[in-house]
Order: sequence, then C-alpha cells, then structure tokens
Amino acid sequence: NDSTASTFANNSIPPVGFGTASWPFGESGEILKESILTAIELGYRHFDTAAVYQSEQCLSEAVSQALDLGLVKSRGELFITSKLWCSDVHPSRVLPALRNTLQKFGLEYLDLYLIHFPISMKPAAGYLVPFSQSDLLPMDFKSVWEAMEECHKLGLTKNIGVGNFSSKKLKQLLLTANIPPAVNQVEMNPLWQQKKLRKFCEEKGIRVTAYSPLGAKGTLWGTDQVMECEILKEIAKSKGKTPAQVCLRWVYEQGVSALVKSFNKERMRQNLEILGWTLSPEDSQKIDQIPQQKGCRGLEFVSDGGPYKSVEDLWDEPI
Ligand code: A2P
Repeated sequence: NDSTASTFANNSIPPVGFGTASWPFGESGEILKESILTAIELGYRHFDTAAVYQSEQCLSEAVSQALDLGLVKSRGELFITSKLWCSDVHPSRVLPALRNTLQKFGLEYLDLYLIHFPISMKPAAGYLVPFSQSDLLPMDFKSVWEAMEECHKLGLTKNIGVGNFSSKKLKQLLLTANIPPAVNQVEMNPLWQQKKLRKFCEEKGIRVTAYSPLGAKGTLWGTDQVMECEILKEIAKSKGKTPAQVCLRWVYEQGVSALVKSFNKERMRQNLEILGWTLSPEDSQKIDQIPQQKGCRGLEFVSDGGPYKSVEDLWDEPI
C-alpha cells in the first residue's frame, strides 16, 4: 500500500472548513461568491465543494479574488476539496470529471477528491438534483477506485477519499485498494454521532470529516432538529456560547474536521470561535446520551430496481 495519499500538509485538515453546498444547488451565485470571500477574510482555509453543488465556479472566482486582494498569498494556503458526482462514477469518466473540475477552478491540483456517494448513475443523468431513481446503478468499487488512484498518481489531487460510505462499503473498497481512502466525509453532529463508523475509520487510518455539523436545516438532506435540541441549548446557555458553537466544539473534541456553511458574516465568525474553551465532562456525557436520529436519509438513492432497496441497504445500519 502507498500510504502517501493519507498524509496532509502539516498533517492536518483545518478543524473548521467552509461548506459551499447551498440549496437549491446553483441558485445563489453572487451571494455564495461573496460569502466565500468573506470566509477567506475571516480565516477559513478549507473549502468544500462538489461537481453537483454547482459552486466550483464561485469558489474559483472567490479564490482568484482573494489572491488578487492579498487575503492569501498563494494557493498552497488553501485546502480545497471537491467530489465526483454519481453520473461520473464510472471508471472511464473519473479522470475527465476531475480534469473538468480543475479546469473550472483554473487549478492544477485539488487537495482532496472524494467519491460523493457509493453509487453510480447513468451518465445522462448529469448533475441534476433531484434525479430520477431509474438512473441509479451499482458502483463498480474496484475499477472506480483504481481510476481515483490514477488521479492521485498523476498529481491532480493530493489525496483521494470517499463520502457517505458505511464500514461495510469501506471494507469492500479496502479489499482491492492500493491506496486507502484518506477521508470518509459523512453526516456527523450530536444527533448522529457515527460512533461505530468513526471507530472503524480510526482503526483503518481513514480520517472522518463531518458534513451537516449543525444539521443543515432547510436543505434536501438536512433537519432543524440539531439546532432545536434542548440539551445543546442548555449547554450553550451555561457556557455563554451558541448551540452551533457547542456542536462544532463537540465535533472538534472528537478529532474530526467539520464543514460548516453560513452566508452570514456574524455566524461565520462565530463558527470559527471554537478554540480556547472546552466542553466539561458532564457536557460531553449529556451529548453522548442524546437520542440518535439521522438527518440525511438518502431516500432518493433507494429504489426497487436500483442497487439499494432500502435506506438500511444504503447505510448498512438501522435508520
Ligand atoms: P445561515 O447561512 O443563514 O447562517 P450545516 O453547516 O450543518 O450545513 O448547516 C447550515 C445551516 O445552519 C444554514 O441554514 C445556516 O444558515 C445555519 N447556520 C450556520 N451557522 C449558524 C449558527 N452559528 N447559528 C445558527 N445557524 C447557523
């Protein structure tokens, strides 16, 4: 195994990254671009995008502008993640998809390239969401991962990884992988803590990054339950923090990097202020006891004729 793919500059991903998935995808161009620029100004250095979010172009423009303005001195100061969408989850489409992403960015390399979901779609499905369930196809784990490894070998991405993979699906991938995935990006917040999956990933040296750390309310995949959680509100009040900060601090204390999205400067600033204070053991214990409920069920990936017949098939655990 070539383990160089799982080493990051300074051996770390910034603890709080900026998510650029705004729902509905592709509808908030200028606001998104302005927000990214503000985020760079405030100190965010990790940016998460995906072909399907239609935010690669905005991110690219914001990064160019930030360089022009001297907010960052070089591309190397930023950690940029993008993702291969399901309609490109075919061995022959991986490299062209990454090249297309890089071209949109005007970048020579990504820091991290992820397979967005453990599923494939007919190429004609393109990047439209919602998509038709009749487009769903099983993913060829071995050959698609080989194509991802090729992207790494060509230097087009410093690291390769996956998103939304269960332990079972990771095991299947690892059976034939020469380069293990550096990252598994999954939903993670106090209401969906992913304890078992995190333990598995730790054992395998796969870093977990957290999407929807605040529950991503108002999106197709989100829930307002996280921000409405009474336990989190109580802890926040007792600490003079906000429930969002409690969520992000909790994720940080688990050793996981979070990808948080906000278009509001004050909240963006607030979301970075998670260092220099801690949750008490009592706080952590209370969070540990929160009843678990998944926000992103992924029903749109489930169909009788497709590779996953139920949400349990998709996530390989009771939902
Ligand atoms: P907004 O963009 O208006 O700030 P997630 O990061 O889990 O995907 O959640 C994103 C959602 O949470 C967005 O609706 C965002 O709204 C909201 N949000 C982001 N930061 C905060 C915060 N500090 N407090 C409350 N809501 C927040």
